[in-house]
Amino acid sequence: MIQALRHEDQILIEKVVEFNQAQIFDWWAELPDSSKQNLLDQVRLIDFKQVQYFQELLNNQSTHNAPIHMEPAEYIALPENESSEAARKEAMVIGEDAIRNGRTGVFTVAGGQGTRLGFDGPKGSFPCSPVTKKSLFELQAERILAIQKAYGVIIPWYLMTSPTNDAATRSFFSQHLYFGLNPKDVLFPCQRMLPTLDDNGKLILDAKDHIAVSPNGHGGTFLAMQDGGVLEDADRRGVDILSYYQVDNILIRVIDPVFVGFHLNMGAGMSSKMIKKNDPQEKVGHFGLIDNHLHVVEYSDMTEADMEARNPDDSLKYEAGSIGIHLINTGFVREQFRDGLKLPFHIAHKKIPILQKDGRISNPDIPNGYKFEMFVFDALADTKESVILEIRREKEFSPIKNREESDSPQTAKQDLNNYFGSWLEASGYTVPRDSESNVQCDIEVHPLYACTQDEFVQKVPKHMELTKQMVFHPDSD
Ligand code: UD1
Repeated sequence: MIQALRHEDQILIEKVVEFNQAQIFDWWAELPDSSKQNLLDQVRLIDFKQVQYFQELLNNQSTHNAPIHMEPAEYIALPENESSEAARKEAMVIGEDAIRNGRTGVFTVAGGQGTRLGFDGPKGSFPCSPVTKKSLFELQAERILAIQKAYGVIIPWYLMTSPTNDAATRSFFSQHLYFGLNPKDVLFPCQRMLPTLDDNGKLILDAKDHIAVSPNGHGGTFLAMQDGGVLEDADRRGVDILSYYQVDNILIRVIDPVFVGFHLNMGAGMSSKMIKKNDPQEKVGHFGLIDNHLHVVEYSDMTEADMEARNPDDSLKYEAGSIGIHLINTGFVREQFRDGLKLPFHIAHKKIPILQKDGRISNPDIPNGYKFEMFVFDALADTKESVILEIRREKEFSPIKNREESDSPQTAKQDLNNYFGSWLEASGYTVPRDSESNVQCDIEVHPLYACTQDEFVQKVPKHMELTKQMVFHPDSD
């Protein structure tokens, strides 16, 4: 019998036993009192009914993906003619108005563990700009500063962390003096954690006094907004539209007036940006309608046949790829809670460090346990109206996910160089490119120097010598 000193702790222990999870007390007898308390404090936070529900999910999961019965979703395609150009211009005016009137804020999800990148620190602190090695956070902060200046408005930045990186993220911002932003305008809502389970549905210990937990997925956004006071802060400022994106995208436009304009015009609750997949097997989510509700179906949940399915004209049937960029109204967030948050849980089979019987931690080579996550895009099914806006990949999307090869620091750096290289070309310069059309010099343009290609063309000297590394900074005017 596991004994605790306090009656309330004893009740807690009995509850754990009742839910068949007594293995978490395997080391109880040898734990000092402080460790016993640590373990009990953690147990107190666990919703055992939810754990039971996770066990059911595990028992019912199928070993293979079923074909999806999904209609491709409609989207606003890239402009092909004057009328679609005009629609974008009109949207831009509406969006700029909303930004100028202080209706927009930025919401960044940065609570993930970044395991694939293998970087020891919050992913946003990864040094990635081609010349000055600025972090993702700094690049985004500069873009926010530029918008604040351009529209004469304060843009609050809500940056979602998780307990795994919250302290490190805050200290990174402090060390860098918030990159020039006012600390009052940067909030760090922190997402919640969920317990992980082993193959038998048992809670896992990753220390003698600690149960292995992991962040609750970017769908944790909604709870984090509530926990972290985001909605109150936004209300106080008159902000009702949040520009949501994933921290890992080096090309991110932190707020896009055209997108905001289309979203407002449509009266949408939550909207999305999309790219056309560049390869049937590209690892993105796919937009589509299931029973008339908008969904994003992850590549990992699709069959080979669905990934490759084609229309009669040979285009991909599910060509619209999700890139984790949305607009979310604060009113829509509140609606999510009206009858209790209902986002489904997704299961991921992962390698989870685990405490062995000999008391040592082992890092498994193969997945040994399950994490449970909510996805923010599952909320799309609840929007009455929603815009999906196609954007150009080379201008807005290049994530850093892997250590090497695709979606890596190397590809992100190249994409940034290609992007700014095209600005130099638009200014009349001949920029060296290799046989794959990749720009062969490192270029950085500070958004306070120029935010758009047009601004850059206006500003850049007409005659200068291109060098291997170039930085266009407002101080170098
Ligand atoms: C994600 C999308 C995919 C999309 C792709 C585009 C999912 C399930 N899939 O894939 O549809 O095509 O991005 O880049 O999202 N995060 C948190 N807390 C968490 C988990 C994640 O804040 O608990 C953040 C991460 O910090 C990151 C973002 O969410 O900024 C995406 O997470 P990641 O694991 O990189 O998603 P992908 O599987 O790459």
